[in-house]
Amino acid sequence: MQRIAEPENTAQTLTVVSKRRTFASFETLSSRERFLRATVCEPLDVPPVWLMRQAGRALPEYRKLKEKYTFLDLVRTPELATEVTLQPIRRFGFDAAILFSDILVIQEAMGQGYSFRESGGVAMDFSICSDEDINRLSVEGIAERLAYVPAAIRMIKSELSGRTALIGFAGSPWTLANFMLEGGSCKEPTRALTLLKAEPEKYRKLAEKLTQAVIEFLRMQITAGVDAIQIFDSHGGLLPGPLFRAGSGLWIERILHAIKREVPTIVFSKGTRAWEELAYSGANVIGIDHGISLVDAVAELPTTIAVQGNLDPGLLTGEPALVAEKTKELISSMRGRPGWIFNLGHGLPPGANIDCIHTMIDTLRS
Ligand code: CP3
Repeated sequence: MQRIAEPENTAQTLTVVSKRRTFASFETLSSRERFLRATVCEPLDVPPVWLMRQAGRALPEYRKLKEKYTFLDLVRTPELATEVTLQPIRRFGFDAAILFSDILVIQEAMGQGYSFRESGGVAMDFSICSDEDINRLSVEGIAERLAYVPAAIRMIKSELSGRTALIGFAGSPWTLANFMLEGGSCKEPTRALTLLKAEPEKYRKLAEKLTQAVIEFLRMQITAGVDAIQIFDSHGGLLPGPLFRAGSGLWIERILHAIKREVPTIVFSKGTRAWEELAYSGANVIGIDHGISLVDAVAELPTTIAVQGNLDPGLLTGEPALVAEKTKELISSMRGRPGWIFNLGHGLPPGANIDCIHTMIDTLRS
């Protein structure tokens, strides 16, 4: 296996952290600093940790709020979104908080609303089928319709007082397009791939519009003060290698180019093994899912790119002893590799055992 050559200006253009190359010790760094240093591959004694989907259903305090408010109330009310964002930080002391929101708010702001199905998953109000449907999607109203997002970010930043990093996010155009074309959650989405293959111009038109909307949305988040951005390309693995660029990679690259490394960026493309595409996308950090060994992924990526991952989320619904064992394995496999953010290989499952999360963090930090 050959390592991909370093893309130009990967870590060098980032000015968010000092370029001190000394080994920073656990006691002297704030969580935020630890997280930011990891994104530019600075050596650390202990990697920073946060979990995808850390804010939400696994926490009793979140479920309590859900007795009173709907998911969309929580997302759209800055005070409530702030509370839910902070819940996992208070309980576990993660090094980064992730804004409580959803990748689908952008579609809603463009004119395709969504709701929750009784049977689980989400349903869009309608599916995108025709050119007219694409034409009707509006990019103009984003700032106004999503004004609750920067309002929440400002509140969260003030509560975190610079101690913990705050991550903003958006879905990738490819992943968003899958939800839009299927009309909601779907076990085996096919329509976006069919469109990309059969009518590439039409797919391009949709992806361009989504790219524009995501750029505007992320810029709003950066202006409001997030410390980093993650792009969720949760459906990236649906694309066969040769189509990854046309379906997803190109649009992610355009987004990252447009936000010009103002903050560090993380790309999580689940199931994707197009390392070269990901390495040259402009991302500072590549999220690795649990379907691949972290060591194998690291062996292919340039050393200037940090990695994030990748404990199997399923372990957290089991026994703490096994979590400790697997966490230790991951730590020894990554020893000496600067630029590692500890995370799961996908989102925290709703049935996660709180003791398992504590054990994972204690093992990592001890
Ligand atoms: O990570 C965090 O804690 C921040 C909040 C966050 C949520 N969704 C909250 C949420 C983030 C970053 C997301 C991203 C998201 N949303 C993705 C990408 C990540 C992934 O898991 O692949 C996707 C595909 C969505 C779309 C989405 N949101 C679906 C399909 C569903 C319904 C199915 C499900 O997982 O429950 C949601 C709802 C959702 N988003 C919940 C939460 C906490 C559950 C709502 C509830 O029941 O309270």
